[in-house]
Amino acid sequence: MTAHAETVVADTALADALRRRACAIPDAWIVEVCAACTSTNSVLLDRTGRDTRVLFALEQTAGRGRRGRAWTARPGDSLTFSLRHTFALRADALSGLSLAVGAALADALCARGVTDIALKWPNDLMRADRKLGGVLIELSSPPAGDTTAVIGIGLNLAPPPAGDYAHAPAALFPDAPGREVWLDVGAALADALARMLPQFAAHGFAPFAERWNHYNLHAGRAVTVSGDGTQLSGQCLGADHDGALRLDCDGRVERVLAGDVSLRAAP
Ligand code: BTN
Repeated sequence: MTAHAETVVADTALADALRRRACAIPDAWIVEVCAACTSTNSVLLDRTGRDTRVLFALEQTAGRGRRGRAWTARPGDSLTFSLRHTFALRADALSGLSLAVGAALADALCARGVTDIALKWPNDLMRADRKLGGVLIELSSPPAGDTTAVIGIGLNLAPPPAGDYAHAPAALFPDAPGREVWLDVGAALADALARMLPQFAAHGFAPFAERWNHYNLHAGRAVTVSGDGTQLSGQCLGADHDGALRLDCDGRVERVLAGDVSLRAAP
């Protein structure tokens, strides 16, 4: 832990209950739940060591989203957690990780009977065309060519007050669900990541590409990808074996790499 690392107050009863339900989580993983923290990603980025850790927060006061956005979470309305894992891989081998996470989460929600789930490249979790959740992955590279990834997940369980997030969000439930539902959904998503990680470490994104493309919100549609001052328009062909987005631009196939890119339906 760094000198100024945030101290979080652990709710061990909730963590034990979560672990009992999340059967796929290996015994060696450390599972923690705290009532509140600034950002589960920030807390885990400050931790040291090679242990794989999962940290859930019931409330997040300074949560961070992609592209510098805020991601707040109020108790009961949100499922907010991060997973810290060290891969024996260089950072460039993790380019498709966020898409693999998205595909695993989508499968887990569908398996629980959630309808209308889709993925928007690179990793927005969508429901009925509106944003249901997001993934923020932050990397650090300890010595020896390894890469530590902090994989942050935010999922709307119930709608937040209007204007709380830049996009009109979707939610799993019309009202804040109770503790049991929070535990059920949390365990299902943590289990999905626990099953996905070893496969990703061994084979990268390729085994998940078919599942990701199954959920692709923009499959076959005319889209514009914009980022870093550039724009590319074409027909969305889906995610490639490494997570790059393939576009048919007037018969020429272009690949857009993961990064600071947004995808919009073409006018
Ligand atoms: C996005 O903008 O789509 C990504 C949102 C990711 C939010 C999650 S909530 C848990 C973790 N902690 C953070 O501060 N951010 C991520």
